[in-house]
Amino acid sequence: MSYTRTSLLAAMALVAGTTGTALLVGQAGAATSAVPCTVDYKVQSQWDTGFTAAVTLTNNAAAKSSWTVKWSYAGNQKVTNGWNGKITQNGADVTVANEGYNGNLASGGSVSFGFNGAYSGTNSVPATFTLDGVTCNVDGGGPTDPGPTDPGPTDPGTPSGKANNPYTGAKVYVNPEWSAKAAAEPGGSKIANQPTAVWLDRIAAINGVKGGMGLRAHLDEALKQKGSGELVVQVVIYDLPGRDCAALASNGELGPNDIDKYKSQYIDPIVSILSESKYAGLRIATVIEPDSLPNLVTNAGGTPTTTDACVTMKGNGNYEKGVSYALDKLGAIPNVYNYIDAAHHGWLGWDSNLGPAVQQFHKVATTNGASVKDVAGFIVNTANYSPTKEPHYKVTDTVGGQTIRQSKWVDWNQYVDEQSFAQAMRDKLVAAGFDSGLGMLIDTSRNGWGGSARPSGPGPQTTVDGYVDGSRIDRRIHAGNWCNQSGAGIGERPTAAPAAGIDAYVWVKPPGESDGNSAPIPNDEGKGFDRMCDPTYGGNPRNGNNPTGSLPNSPLAGQWFSAQFQQLVRNAYPPLS
Ligand code: GLC
Repeated sequence: MSYTRTSLLAAMALVAGTTGTALLVGQAGAATSAVPCTVDYKVQSQWDTGFTAAVTLTNNAAAKSSWTVKWSYAGNQKVTNGWNGKITQNGADVTVANEGYNGNLASGGSVSFGFNGAYSGTNSVPATFTLDGVTCNVDGGGPTDPGPTDPGPTDPGTPSGKANNPYTGAKVYVNPEWSAKAAAEPGGSKIANQPTAVWLDRIAAINGVKGGMGLRAHLDEALKQKGSGELVVQVVIYDLPGRDCAALASNGELGPNDIDKYKSQYIDPIVSILSESKYAGLRIATVIEPDSLPNLVTNAGGTPTTTDACVTMKGNGNYEKGVSYALDKLGAIPNVYNYIDAAHHGWLGWDSNLGPAVQQFHKVATTNGASVKDVAGFIVNTANYSPTKEPHYKVTDTVGGQTIRQSKWVDWNQYVDEQSFAQAMRDKLVAAGFDSGLGMLIDTSRNGWGGSARPSGPGPQTTVDGYVDGSRIDRRIHAGNWCNQSGAGIGERPTAAPAAGIDAYVWVKPPGESDGNSAPIPNDEGKGFDRMCDPTYGGNPRNGNNPTGSLPNSPLAGQWFSAQFQQLVRNAYPPLS
């Protein structure tokens, strides 16, 4: 995989300023449902006297230029303040009308608003919602759609039956193959019982490569680990045509035009296994095609980081078609949760990249049969090294009156760490039309940055560079470096719901598996030699022409790399006990 930033675009962000305020009207395909509208009301957080709720309204009838939603509370809930809708309350009755900027609601379109409320006793979700007088969430609810005689579902709650956050209250699958390799390393037993993702990185991986476990074998083992509780299995979907177009280390088996093969020989067989009834009780979290859509945004034309391969993949549309297809087919399985890969802050953290990325994600999630309902969330930092949190400095800090955004390291980025990036991106995705219950994942497998080089406090207030370089726990030479990073450590342990908007910290890239080879190695997987994995290389525009900071003597991407594993264990933060 490759990780990329574009300083030219970063500079442009300065000139161009920020994008407009939240525009909440989503687009979707033709409305075919007999349910005239749906209202998805979610309590996002709750404490003893108050709560925050998010509501997404979808209109399945004719397009509207204004809308009013109503419900009544059974308890004593009282809305205190809201956003993206004009909310009034009279006793138990709540009325929400559109704001000036979000009144247009296409047929099939969605809009989201939210509010804070106070309550005591029980805070139950209202039973019935209306849109302009028509009852939502039930078949044939009113005058605009008399509908068939089918009485429809009686439970207006969650239309899909999927958990809001699949990680809540669940164990996560420990891959026995990775676990055995980890346990065989010095110090490895400290992490060998942690959950990591299963990578389906080629068609053959579905049935198992060289006698290894295939998808069914993993799911059967997952059923054993599950017992009578809940369990999440994490599967990486990673075999697009023309894979890894901005780099060489993880080029794959499918050529740029092999979209039919991707669908029929890769996605379809996976879908058929995941749909088997015996696996229906597992919660399956899929990570969808790392790097692909971000590459279309920053590396497919008009930037110094453009590559011919990314131009090809943008031109033939096969990344978009492949991702839409995967979202659609996988999303239709009731126990599958799709998380789309969304790069990391050192790649998309400039407004000039993030805005177009959100549009790109929305486009693939609403075309070729996919819908925003097929997307449970997004994942950031997959296989990367960006810290979850920089504890000693913030992007808003100044030195001598100057913003630290102008330091060499930050380079005008809007974020300095992954959690703030993920939370901000989540807001922008919801504003663009994604589900308000969207949850983010952060890959924390290798972003710990402990060890003796870790700063223990803020840097000196000398210059912006002196301050940032003295403060940052991320010890990379450049934030665009991505291959087998020297000095890195294991990061936060996998954790469910660690912060607002974050479904989980996860270990997607299995510690000890190489990011790429440091010298050419012939192979039959399609993998190339990317000099970003060569410690003697002086870099390219994607890392500001800096040295790569990669470890020497590394094997092909995905293969076991003992020296890397041992370094990660040594430099773990929080430290391992
Ligand atoms: C890289 C490799 C892939 C491997 C994955 C996880 O992306 O290209 O083969 O499965 O990393 O280690």
